[in-house]
Amino acid sequence: MKASAIAHPNIAFVKYWGKIDEKLHLPANGSISMTLSDLYSQTTVEFGDFPRDSIVLDGKEVQDPKIKNHLDLIRQLGKSHKNARINSRNNFPTGSGIASSASGFAALTLAACKAIGLNLDSKTLSIIARQGSGSACRSIYGGFVEWLHSTMSEGSHAIQLADEHYWDVRDLITIVSTDTKRVSSTSGMVQTTKTSPLYQSRLAAVEDNLKAARDAIRFKNFKQLGEIAEYDSLLMHATMMTTRPPLLYWLPATVKIMHAVEQLRETGVPAYYTIDAGANVHVLTLPSHEKKVYAALHKIDGVQNILQCRPGEDTSITNEHLF
Ligand code: PMV
Repeated sequence: MKASAIAHPNIAFVKYWGKIDEKLHLPANGSISMTLSDLYSQTTVEFGDFPRDSIVLDGKEVQDPKIKNHLDLIRQLGKSHKNARINSRNNFPTGSGIASSASGFAALTLAACKAIGLNLDSKTLSIIARQGSGSACRSIYGGFVEWLHSTMSEGSHAIQLADEHYWDVRDLITIVSTDTKRVSSTSGMVQTTKTSPLYQSRLAAVEDNLKAARDAIRFKNFKQLGEIAEYDSLLMHATMMTTRPPLLYWLPATVKIMHAVEQLRETGVPAYYTIDAGANVHVLTLPSHEKKVYAALHKIDGVQNILQCRPGEDTSITNEHLF
């Protein structure tokens, strides 16, 4: 059978960077994110009597061991040995720190499970998606999402804190580079856990930051949410920069944006930045200030594009197949 799914990427306010179990993708800490509207991965999967698995990503045939492993996991759950045909596309740049692996593996998980005949609940889908790419477990849910910390595979899944209609927070993804990052998240975080002397200090601060982010969402306290997101992002990047060899994901334009956001705040505009494993900057603001923030970011040298997002929806099945 053939099935297709659509999933959105997410931006973490309190991030994960480092695992306690590499194989099962169990992170060292919980994380909290917002699923992003407008950007999506769309994936069609069909299992059949094909001579081999074939995977097409954004129009190009690829051999991706991570995708192969994920298919094997789903074949095992679906008790099938059939090969798969996969076609997937993103409507935004892949591998540049805009969490394409999150939406990609969330869409692949739902489409492949459905195509193999498994009708699973969101929690189970989240556990499976996690094993493709950690942050994908959060993209199964729309709105505001927490990935629970657990040392057991069954406990390490996301839950929805509030849906996409709850609070209209805006994320202006300010693109300064669409190049694929030199060091992937997967290998970068292994190096950080092994070599950064700051890694344990960040971990020690995470529980407090998670609580602050949860409360900020609960009380719709944007200042608190923004401050925590910015702080946690800086903590994470401090561990990246002090990794050996260093992981310096920022470009000059990244830092210019960070300064511009600080200046916006000095003039009373609520705006905060957070940065994943890449050079692009997510600038968080509220709808009534979005125009002003957009105009300020647009002027900065090196800014190529600004993608405007609000809270997005759950991963879902679509009848629009890609083949
Ligand atoms: O989902 P992964 O394993 O590619 O890691 C993503 C890590 C960050 O995006 C940097 C942080 C996060 O929690 O999303």
